[in-house]
Parts: sequence; structure tokens; C-alpha cells
Amino acid sequence: MQIAIDGPASAGKSTVAKRVAQELGFIYCDTGAMYRAATVLAAENQLDYGDEAGILAKLTQQEISFKPGAPGHEQQVFLGQEDVTFAIRTPEITNNVSQVSALAQIRQALVAQQRQIASGHSIVMDGRDIGTTVLPQAQVKVFLVASAAERARRRYAENLTKGIETPLAQLEDEIVARDYKDSHRKVSPLTKAADAIEIDTTALTIDEVVAKIVDLAQKKQ
Ligand code: DC
Repeated sequence: MQIAIDGPASAGKSTVAKRVAQELGFIYCDTGAMYRAATVLAAENQLDYGDEAGILAKLTQQEISFKPGAPGHEQQVFLGQEDVTFAIRTPEITNNVSQVSALAQIRQALVAQQRQIASGHSIVMDGRDIGTTVLPQAQVKVFLVASAAERARRRYAENLTKGIETPLAQLEDEIVARDYKDSHRKVSPLTKAADAIEIDTTALTIDEVVAKIVDLAQKKQ
């Protein structure tokens, strides 16, 4: 079974997707981490974030891979041998990943890898275009949304646990800007698949959202 979870930045996708995967015993793939790793690759090689050919050339030499973290810890993300788990979450990368993820050839390369990861497994995959483009046959498609103010509050709390303190208003502005870029790019913009079920998480707990999706999956099994 394939479960696609899409939605805008900080709507809770990865937290929820990870938990759903755990409960159902499926593998989990965070596709945003892959676009972030491609952005780290650009930064490390002093490439412009719009340099499609340059980033693609580096991407074909370096495999992006995941290793499950110890219980209670984030899964680790690798670029070749390099552990980029923390590097992909810095503000520099967060604020520039939209530009890299708008590059058609980078998307093509990463979508191919994502389909490869999904093939032959029961999987929960989260991102922006999973239900529309990467896994259009997914049996369960969910589109998670939450107000920008609530998403900024969640990002603020998450940042604090990492010792990063960015003003709440700035985070909200950044989230709104990223939503706009992700929804208006030419290639695979963030859109809800026609057959996706929208869940507004603004007033829901993580447990409630997880339970709703597990229930949807169990009804399809
Ligand atoms: O979910 P996230 O914030 O880690 O995603 C980082 C960026 O990657 C986001 O701004 C949009 C892009 N992205 C995408 O274009 N397609 C995906 N399937 C996943 C993420």
C-alpha cells in the first residue's frame, strides 16, 4: 500500500507521516529532505541555487540516502558518505530550497529516485507532489493544511528545541513566502490531488491526525 501525504510547509506532514508509518509497519520517505539535500549540495559546491546543470551534475555523483534513527530520534540523511541530517535544516537551506526544488531536471532526478524507493514496499511518503505526480496510484492521499499562524508557532517551538530563536513574525512571513513559491512554480506546483482528502490540523493534536490517516488506510486494506 502507498500513502501520499502532501501539504504546505510546517503543516505537520513529516511528524504525522513518520508516526503513521510506525503504526502500520510501513517504510517512510521524507521527500522534502531530498530537495533540502540537493540544496546543501549547491551550497557546499558554491553553486548558484538556480544553476540547474551544475546541481544536477553533482547530484548524479552523490546518492541521497536515509538511515532510520535510533528510537525517538530523527532519521539520518546522507549525501554520499556525508551525514547532512542537521545541515539540511539550517535557515540558509530552508530559505533557498524552494528555488532548487523549482528546477525541472532536479525534480525529474529526485522523482525517479522517490519512485524507486517506493517500489515493492508499503510506504508513507510526504512532500508536495506525491499524490499528483510521484505516486498518482497511491491508495490513500491526504492533503494536510493548517493556518500560517499555527504553522509559524509550530516551527518556532521546533526551532527552540534546536537552540535557534527566530522571531515568530519572521517565521510566519517565511512560511507565507515559501507557500507562494511552492504553489506558483511551473513544474509540479503544490496542489491537492483531486482524490486527496484534506485534513485541517490547526486545531487537532498529532495523535488525532495520525488516527484519522491510519483509519483511512485500514479501510482500504
Ligand atoms: O517539507 P520540507 O519543508 O522539508 O520541504 C522542503 C522544500 O522542498 C519545500 O519548500 C518544497 C520542496 N519540496 C517539493 O518541491 N516537493 C516535494 N515532494 C517535497 C518538498
